[in-house]
This record gives sequence, structure tokens and C-alpha cells, in this order.
Amino acid sequence: FWRESMDSDAPTLSRYVMSQTKDSELVLLLNALATSFKLIASAVRRAGVAQLYGLAGEVNSTGDDQKKLDIMSNDMMINALINSGVCSILVSEENEEPIIVPVDKAGKFCVAFDPLDGSSNIDCNVSVGTIFSVFEKKDGVVEDLLRSGEECICAGYCAYSSAVELVFTFKDSTVEGFCLDPTIGEFVHTRFNMQFPADGGKRIYSCNEGNFIHWDQPIKDAVDAFKNGIEGKPYSARYVGSMVADIHRTLLYGGIYIYPADKKSPKGKLRMLYEGIPMALIIEQAGGIASTGYFNGKIGEVSKLTPDAIHCKCPIIMGGHRDVGVVYDCYKKAG
Ligand code: AHG
Ligand code: MN
Ligand code: MN
Ligand code: MN
Repeated sequence: FWRESMDSDAPTLSRYVMSQTKDSELVLLLNALATSFKLIASAVRRAGVAQLYGLAGEVNSTGDDQKKLDIMSNDMMINALINSGVCSILVSEENEEPIIVPVDKAGKFCVAFDPLDGSSNIDCNVSVGTIFSVFEKKDGVVEDLLRSGEECICAGYCAYSSAVELVFTFKDSTVEGFCLDPTIGEFVHTRFNMQFPADGGKRIYSCNEGNFIHWDQPIKDAVDAFKNGIEGKPYSARYVGSMVADIHRTLLYGGIYIYPADKKSPKGKLRMLYEGIPMALIIEQAGGIASTGYFNGKIGEVSKLTPDAIHCKCPIIMGGHRDVGVVYDCYKKAG
């Protein structure tokens, strides 16, 4: 049995990526992303010891107070991506302006990212994450990133929780999951062809209900319907307040995640390029729905939105047919 005591054939992230593409720049990109996730995971894990909790003292592009770990995670991603030699333009939640990579290090990708998602949870040691979306360079200008979500070629997130877990998808491909094995320092393939539960999964609704008074009537009605019970079964409430954790749970267990447009935030709160579109791609390619709800005069798909600015926002209603259908019914009733 000594042979089985260790894995002599580890199904690593690099092996998976190389099995999916012959594009060596794409392999290098995923490698740089994985490196930055390992660095961020290490900083998150050591935050208490290394005194990395607390504010950095600045405010970012969308008005959030920046935490020390927001800045540190951002630096880790920027340094890894610039030095990968395969990126031209980077957009980060923590940088007002896009970062243009110097020509001698420039390559064919544009990457948008939320270096640390869930920063309100950092200081109390609750799960946080990183979210990213990748586009191919066109003209080497910032407009290259102001394209429809349909042109996104790769999207994913990394959750820093009891385990470090990377979930991502290439365009028109399956959703795959990888856990960081601390004993070898590599992401190892652990979830294959991830699928949103076909029957809608667990009866869970996930939203910041503190915004109830600001919501439109159909969203209020839908959340009331979940609480009162669909088919006689009341739903459980689960809301971490870190999108990565809330979406990861929704993908694995099912239910519905809602961050709608409302009277206080007419465009929603979540940022389109590095929160909305990448998560929509993951949920859709796993067989779920990522709707905008009623937004800009119609009900649309988040993955088909085109940002009009790098930090613009969008509403999100994600889940399966069973639960997103309840929201649609409430819109219909409201006319
Ligand atoms: P970030 O920490 O990257 O700024 O993102 C915050 C986002 C997201 O993580 C989370 O789901 C949502 O904001 C929580 O918003 P509320 O505090 O309004 O519920
Ligand atoms: Mn923030
Ligand atoms: Mn975020
Ligand atoms: Mn963030």
C-alpha cells in the first residue's frame, strides 16, 4: 500500500490548462493568476500575525474604504500579471485608472479583477476571495475592456476559506474546481464539470435584506415568497456578504443570490467587469441563470452586458430556473 500513500500523478491546474489549450500565453496567464492567489492566500492566512487587519486610509474608485489587505492583494496581482509578459491592460477595483503594461512586458490579454472581494469580512476572519475576467487585446486601449461579456474568454474566482479553492471556466467550456494542496503548493483538480443543481438545489435565498425598504415591489414580493415558502416549504436565509462565498455556495448547493438595482443603488452595487460578468459566466456555464432583473427598461442577462466605464455597476439575480422563475413571476404580476 505504500504506493497509494502519496499521489505520484497529481492532476494539477497547469496540467488541466495545458490539456485544454495549445496557447502558451494562456498557460502563462493562468500560471501568473495561480501564483497571485497563493500569495494572497498566504497574506490572508497571516493577516492577524502580520498585523494586516484594518484600513489603509484611502478610498477607491467606487467609494469603498481600502483595507491594507485590499492594497496588498492588488499589488500581488498587478506584479504577477505584469511580469507574466502576457498582459496589456489591467483593470482593478483598487485602481481608478486602467494599468497599461510597459511595451517590453506586454502581451495579448486584458484582465479585470477584484483582488480581494468581501473586504468588510477581512477583519473578523470570514471568507474572502478574488474574482477575475479575461479578454483578448484588440487595439491596446482601455476600450478593449469595454466589450460585451460575450467576448470574455476566461473567468473565475478563488475563495480563501477553510480551503483555498479556485473555480474557473474558459469560454464555451465547463466549470472546473481546484483546491490548493498546501503540502505541494499546487492547485489540484478536485471538481470536474461543475453543474448548478438541476432541480434548483437547496431552498436558500441570499441577499442583503437590510436593503428591503429600497427594493422595487417585485423583489420585495419574491423575497416574501421565499420566506413564506414555495410549494409549502419556507427557504433558509444565508448571506455571507462576500460575493465569492455566496456564489460558491449557490453554485454548489443551489438557491438564489440577489443583489438588485433599487432606489438607493439604481444600477445595483456589484461591479460589472470584475464581479458581475465573471460570476455570470460561471453560473451560466454551470447551467444556472444570471439575470439583471428589471434594468435599463428590460430584463436581461448579465453575461451579455457591455460596460460603459471600467468601474460601472450592474444588478444580479443568480440561481436556477425554480428560483429565478419566482422573481420573473413577480415581475409579471407587477406588469
Ligand atoms: P468588495 O469587498 O470587493 O468591495 O466587494 C463587496 C461586495 C461583495 O463582496 C459583497 O457581496 C457585497 O459587496 C456586499 O454588499 P453589502 O455589504 O451591501 O451586502
Ligand atoms: Mn471594495
Ligand atoms: Mn467585490
Ligand atoms: Mn474588492
